[in-house]
Amino acid sequence: MSRTILRGRVLSFTRAPQAIDDHESYLYLEDGAVGIADGIVVWVGDFAEADLAGAMVIDHRPNLILPGFIDLHLHYVQSNMMAAYAGSLLEWLNTYTFIEEQKFAQQGHADAVAVDFYDALIRHGTTSAVAYCSSHPRSVDAFFAEAQRRNMLMVGGKVMMDRNAPEGLCDTAQSGYDDTKALIARWHGRGRGLYAISPRFAITSTPEQMEAARALVAEHPDAYVQTHLSENDAEISYSMALYPDSPDYTGIYEDYGLLGRKTLLGHCIHLNHRETAVLAETGAVAVFCPTSNLFLGSGLFDRERLMKAGVRVGVATDIGGGTSVSMLRTLDEGYKVLQLRGQRLNPLASFDMATRGNAEALGLDDTIGSIAPGRAADLVVLDARATPLMRMRMGNVETLVEELFVLQTLGDDRAVAEVYVAGARAKSTLGGL
Ligand code: GUN
Ligand code: ZN
Repeated sequence: MSRTILRGRVLSFTRAPQAIDDHESYLYLEDGAVGIADGIVVWVGDFAEADLAGAMVIDHRPNLILPGFIDLHLHYVQSNMMAAYAGSLLEWLNTYTFIEEQKFAQQGHADAVAVDFYDALIRHGTTSAVAYCSSHPRSVDAFFAEAQRRNMLMVGGKVMMDRNAPEGLCDTAQSGYDDTKALIARWHGRGRGLYAISPRFAITSTPEQMEAARALVAEHPDAYVQTHLSENDAEISYSMALYPDSPDYTGIYEDYGLLGRKTLLGHCIHLNHRETAVLAETGAVAVFCPTSNLFLGSGLFDRERLMKAGVRVGVATDIGGGTSVSMLRTLDEGYKVLQLRGQRLNPLASFDMATRGNAEALGLDDTIGSIAPGRAADLVVLDARATPLMRMRMGNVETLVEELFVLQTLGDDRAVAEVYVAGARAKSTLGGL
């Protein structure tokens, strides 16, 4: 069995940090080694104690080796339409998004976009993500086939949407059910692929389609569920007009049996007391998408309130409403959103959230999100001196916490020195860079 040993400063969280001085929440090795065989981490420790016999050593000093970033919510089919000039969510969806996603009906389009999308993820240090595909099954085939080719753990699904969108994008309650069922059979558990049943949001699904989603969730309890919740005021009013019998927006998904520990809810900005309690009770995950929330003027996520109520929270880019593929940029914007809420997101908590925390949100923390024996060797190598400005700033940095904050505040894809997917070099081997 051939072994690779990565040498560098190793950082991996073991639980959620409670404070900026919670140094018990992570493993940090100043001169560390990560032993990898067959795509799996087999040993972690001080380099001086590593068994080097027969191993290939790759020296990443002085860079930091972390678990690869995990992005909990994005739309791969919107990769080509980031930075679309729209005032707010519904205008943005109708003017740009629904037009762009119709292109995925064309043969070959999804395959080409999938290649570019995965290249972008890798360039930015993201090794796993949860994605919406378009309503066309071929967009899902392209998404999972390309992930499998790269050996990446990816979660995704076809959006179900049968109203309030152009005809070219709409399925029906029946076809959405049938297509989703066939796609789960084809992709869930194949390679590292995992399926997410994906009713887009209440506005674009009829009650009949919500019933179909309920049936799918009941029939496939091991699949994920993803949708959007409480992003924008106009969206909330329209949803309540469409579902007048539900007590509130969360209540719509609750009424159709869509909430559970495998449910990922994008945004969750404007929740009332009851909704927060329902999320806490059901274990559904509220996904914070800061760059998107600022870009579309949707509002300020209240992380502290949700966490105090016992709601599970994750973080994501929400491409293409989001304005960066980078989880570093996302953490920076997340920090600023929370500043406006009078909350502080300390750098230990933010890096934990983008790695181990998001893995835990997926129930996959025994597989990804940390560096430990038995975990997948999905890793990112970060260089806090990647740009002249960062180098200048690092001259003034004394602690790991300060370095992490510089990385999230000033870093982007240039700070990603290397990426490993299942133990294989993935960034430096990308073509065309
Ligand atoms: N709500 C329904 N669809 C979308 C989408 O594509 N992006 C965002 N940000 N919100 C949505
Ligand atoms: Zn979204």
